[in-house]
Amino acid sequence: MAEKKRRIVVTSALPYANGDIHLGHLVEYLQTDFWVRYQKLRGNECVYVCADDTHGTPVMIRARKEGVTPEDLIARMHAIHLKDFTDFQVGFDNYYSTNSPENRDFSERFYAAMEKSGGVAKRTSPQLYCEKCGMFLPDRFVKGVCPKCGAEGQYGDSCDRCGSTYAAEELGSPRCTTCGGTPVVRDSEHLYFELEPQHAFLESWIPGHTTSDVSNKLLEWFREPLRGWCISRDAPYFGFEIPGHKDKYFYVWVDAPIGYLASLKNWCESRGEKFEDWWQNPEAERYHFIGKDIIRFHCLFWPGMLNVAGFLQPDKIFVHGFLTVNGEKMSKSKGTFINARTYLDHLPPEALRYYYAAKLGPTTDDMDLNLADFVQRVNSDLVGKITNIASRSAQMLQKRLDGRLASLDGCEEELALLETLRAGGDQVAKLYEERRFNQVVVEVCRLADAANAYFDRKEPWKSVKTDPEAARVSLTAALNAFRILAIYLKPILPAYADRAMKLFGETEWTWNSRLDTLSGLTLGEYEYLASRIDAKQVDAMVAAATVKPADSGEVAHESRASKNKGKPSECAAASGGGQTAFQPQLKAEIAFADFEKLDLRIGVVESCEIVPKSSKLLKFVLDAGPLGRRTIFSGIRMAYPEPEKLVGRQVVFVANLAPRKMSVGVSEGMILFAGEPGECGGVLSPSPSAAGGVPVT
Ligand code: 2FM
Ligand code: ZN
Repeated sequence: MAEKKRRIVVTSALPYANGDIHLGHLVEYLQTDFWVRYQKLRGNECVYVCADDTHGTPVMIRARKEGVTPEDLIARMHAIHLKDFTDFQVGFDNYYSTNSPENRDFSERFYAAMEKSGGVAKRTSPQLYCEKCGMFLPDRFVKGVCPKCGAEGQYGDSCDRCGSTYAAEELGSPRCTTCGGTPVVRDSEHLYFELEPQHAFLESWIPGHTTSDVSNKLLEWFREPLRGWCISRDAPYFGFEIPGHKDKYFYVWVDAPIGYLASLKNWCESRGEKFEDWWQNPEAERYHFIGKDIIRFHCLFWPGMLNVAGFLQPDKIFVHGFLTVNGEKMSKSKGTFINARTYLDHLPPEALRYYYAAKLGPTTDDMDLNLADFVQRVNSDLVGKITNIASRSAQMLQKRLDGRLASLDGCEEELALLETLRAGGDQVAKLYEERRFNQVVVEVCRLADAANAYFDRKEPWKSVKTDPEAARVSLTAALNAFRILAIYLKPILPAYADRAMKLFGETEWTWNSRLDTLSGLTLGEYEYLASRIDAKQVDAMVAAATVKPADSGEVAHESRASKNKGKPSECAAASGGGQTAFQPQLKAEIAFADFEKLDLRIGVVESCEIVPKSSKLLKFVLDAGPLGRRTIFSGIRMAYPEPEKLVGRQVVFVANLAPRKMSVGVSEGMILFAGEPGECGGVLSPSPSAAGGVPVT
């Protein structure tokens, strides 16, 4: 009897639009992709949806800093994210955006239902407000002195030194990280989604829907009444305004999980499918893959929201751990905080897919990417053990025996080998279903050992000279064995499997394709399936990812992990909710106080001449008004072959830079030019009416 097809909706957490995809993110997207591809290979109807998580303060601030609209910024990031995922062969059925009409519509429907259920309360709470920036400050946008241990420079939610969590208003000497100003405490009224009315529902729902370690942790919070969750944020905020509440916006974590439904709906509409037949279908299955830092959003708030809004619940929440590299937290200064694109610039995506599969199981344990082990495993197992079966056999068959497969009828030993490999299939299937990808790889390697042992026993490289038809049989058996392994690996290595399929002249593999024995056909051209990787490639990648300590932004990136400590269901109203704060793109971010130290002035060029024996320098004498005359040497000669033409031009210069002794004389400041790094660019032109010495503000 044919197996019943399952209908399955799968999601991965939506990555924030304000940051790049890195190898830590890929722990989740790759394992979800393995599982989804396995379901599809089994013939199940499985749809994998995701989206960029676009709303919140960090996107708004970054767009402001870049001088673009948030919509432009999120469109740009969407394209970058999608390209990263596509190049890593992550096969989303839909990669959408939370800033979509479907999501606004769903969010408003959810909110109306939350209000109707009586579950929305108004409460006023004090928060830090920056008068210069005109906004309430999310936790990650304020720094000050830890109220517990006195460490300086701590964010508004938790202390990196002593690990304690607190409210931002408790920080000593708080400072706005955007403008450096001192925030004030202001009251603001906010909307809270009450969870206590759902205490009994959630307490009984949680245990069956996630692993026991996760649910036990969650259930600890149920010993007390559940605290309400603040779901509103004050303007200015990039997000959806809450209907009936002017200048109040849905907190990003409200419309983010709703974004799963919006992406699914958008996919359904593009396919002529009905949303109700998927999410709202009791026969269908729904699964979320998430990291352990966002459990409370998915196992508490989200089921609570779905419950009052009358949507079906997910069947399971699959929770994974964090990535460590070489046994440590990823670090920008050590070059182990590696973006997806940096990896792809140096190494093939399949190497990482294979290695992650070899390390991933269904637990919340952290996963280590040990870079030396990575090179070793890819080379010895994927290339040396598995791919070699195909490369040796196919190349020998093509070079020496016209590339034609034999018939294996009556070849007992060969058929027995293939039976052994097929018999392993049920176990491999079970392991995939249970997300024990590490054991899938162990099992495939074990089966590859059997194929290699057969190959070595038969010594076709010898028999090809003495008994070519016997060699043809051996090579045919080895290639059929490899084909079965490649089918087993297809969810992990889809492009690799496609190349293997082409070798056998096939166009589609299903799970049952492993039952076929190929004979008689002529192989297609042998295309490299996987190449060895070199430690030098890894070194180059690490070098490219290494950021000088001052530029690393390290602390901000560690925010998500530390977010999960304590504080189960409350939420400071201005919190960024674990969002990574804005990451400086070019240079290390400086405090406003540092910027204020610069005394920028207008100077008028009195004379400008080439410095003899220097290919780069020009000597400027500026009329700096009340500051007198300044002599400044600038490496800008390439841009001004006729420097005398600059005479009379206004320039902007740093007037309070310590004089610098150079071989050609003393330079008394620095003139500002604009241009691409490595190019000279041109002089910045102030307003023509400005006089020498005027401060630049
Ligand atoms: O933690 C994060 O990166 C969030 N952007 C995940 C959102 S998942 C879902 F709820 F949308
Ligand atoms: Zn400010």
